[in-house]
Amino acid sequence: MKNTRYQIKGNEMLHEAENERINRIRINERNSHIEIYSKEELYKSYSWLNKPIKTVTDIIPYFKGYKELNVLDLGCGIGRNCIAVAQSYKDILCNVDCVDLLELAVEKLYENAKVYGVDTQIHGIVQAIEEYKIEREKYDFIMAISALEHINSKDAFERKLIEIKNGIQQNGIVCLVINSNVREWDKTTKQESDAQFEVNFPTSELKELLHHTFRDWEVIKFTTQEQKYDIPRENGVCELKTNVVTLVAQNR
Ligand SMILES: C[S@@+](CC[C@H](N)C(=O)[O-])C[C@H]1O[C@@H](n2cnc3c(N)ncnc32)[C@H](O)[C@@H]1O
Repeated sequence: MKNTRYQIKGNEMLHEAENERINRIRINERNSHIEIYSKEELYKSYSWLNKPIKTVTDIIPYFKGYKELNVLDLGCGIGRNCIAVAQSYKDILCNVDCVDLLELAVEKLYENAKVYGVDTQIHGIVQAIEEYKIEREKYDFIMAISALEHINSKDAFERKLIEIKNGIQQNGIVCLVINSNVREWDKTTKQESDAQFEVNFPTSELKELLHHTFRDWEVIKFTTQEQKYDIPRENGVCELKTNVVTLVAQNR
């Protein structure tokens, strides 16, 4: 009886600590993205926003000949990838649903959609990825670029992967770019600190999970790339090391 009570108390404390960790990451993530999105200009700044990622532009031709195209961009930011897709399919019925937790991202997304002449195709949704319900077989293309690692738990991450898979129509394509095994060090003291990502899978576990989830689909690309870069954090600049896992798979 006493043990059970201690166990319940212990679980509650663990739960509370995890909630605090997620809240802290989310506040920092929000602040750093507000800073970037306020000062950087899409396709113009010399930052990661200067062009869509090649993995996405390489997928665009797969939909040649489509008369209608439904796209979902999870964690869309200010439209770096989804605007390029919408522009390529401007002349057909192309609908792009774009989800981001940050209101400023969606505001800027609409501004950019106007500038690039695709505002009738882009639909911004301010919501957490884990809460956005993906309709079954609605989409021809679902992308999540550096976004799924911000889902609030491993369980929610696994559920979302299945929802993404079920959300794709026959011949549709999924494109996932996910950081894994992320490590961070203070640039001056060299002291290691907790990686500021809600979920941080060991690379092999993430690859196994992706492989298992999409095992009956045709894999177009499945790579892991080690990357290192500096990132501004609450208490100064950190060096970040990550294994970026990219999966592109087609439902055929
Ligand atoms: C690294 S940026 C990538 C943006 C975009 N995919 C790109 O490649 O340019 C991550 C984006 O995910 C958003 N984000 C973070 N956590 C999220 C969550 N739980 N649900 C929805 N969006 C989230 C952030 O606001 C940010 O815009």
